[in-house]
Amino acid sequence: MKLPQHIAIVMDGNGRWAKQRFLPRLAGHRAGVEATRQIVKSCIKKNIKVLSLFAFSSENWRRPVKEVGHLMELFLIGLEREVGILYDNNVQLRFIGDRHRFNEKLRMKMQEVETKTRDNTGMVLLLAMNYGGQWDIYQSVQQLALEVAEGKLLALAITPSHIANKLSFSDLPDPDLFIRTSGEIRISNFMLWQLAYSELYFTPTLWPDFNETELDKALAYFANRERRYGNSSEQMNDIAAAVQTYDQSI
Ligand code: IPE
Ligand code: IPE
Ligand code: MG
Repeated sequence: MKLPQHIAIVMDGNGRWAKQRFLPRLAGHRAGVEATRQIVKSCIKKNIKVLSLFAFSSENWRRPVKEVGHLMELFLIGLEREVGILYDNNVQLRFIGDRHRFNEKLRMKMQEVETKTRDNTGMVLLLAMNYGGQWDIYQSVQQLALEVAEGKLLALAITPSHIANKLSFSDLPDPDLFIRTSGEIRISNFMLWQLAYSELYFTPTLWPDFNETELDKALAYFANRERRYGNSSEQMNDIAAAVQTYDQSI
């Protein structure tokens, strides 16, 4: 089965999961962390190269202070608890987003786990925290503008690859498969640039209920998609036939 190299997930629905059970939202986030652990484990097992998880958006600061505080605590505890097992599984943990707004303790923990897992060669786990797709494009453009101001780059020489190369994970492949749980059919300012040709998969399942069986459904959906990148279906068949002839000839 054709597997995606990079899976990007908007983990949504913790609050509704808790509400259905007459529990506080925090209980939903806790259950969400548990689902996250299972999905990370499944992706390691399946040899996925990159897994990106939208943990906290640049807009989530609008939530009640108490909920934001709980989430920050869960991030800190989660990182403390999981770093060892991730390290043992050769996972490289990286964060994308503007981390300045986090408290010092959390920032230091983020730095620490990144450094600890930096040389790992297995799956890259990208955690998007205080991340926004618009922020990512804007920080890339700002870097280019500085280069122009310093005379290192001509404004008219700027191409889409210049912008792409300054995005926050330009060394990794773009997501092949985007998953969003909880029935919302929107991107909510996730990787706007990098999702240009991703296959999109939406499921009504709430994040705390998203498990390996649900992941397998998304992977089966992906395996059946034909990615055309602007070509016609006939052209894609021709390309596939040419590759097959080539493979047989070597
Ligand atoms: C996703 O679940 C987790 C975060 C945004 C941090 P929500 O908290 O958005 O859950 P719903 O959408 O209210 O159900
Ligand atoms: C998107 O979910 C962000 C994360 C999952 C971290 P939200 O629940 O915040 O998105 P909206 O507000 O419904 O679009
Ligand atoms: Mg939500």
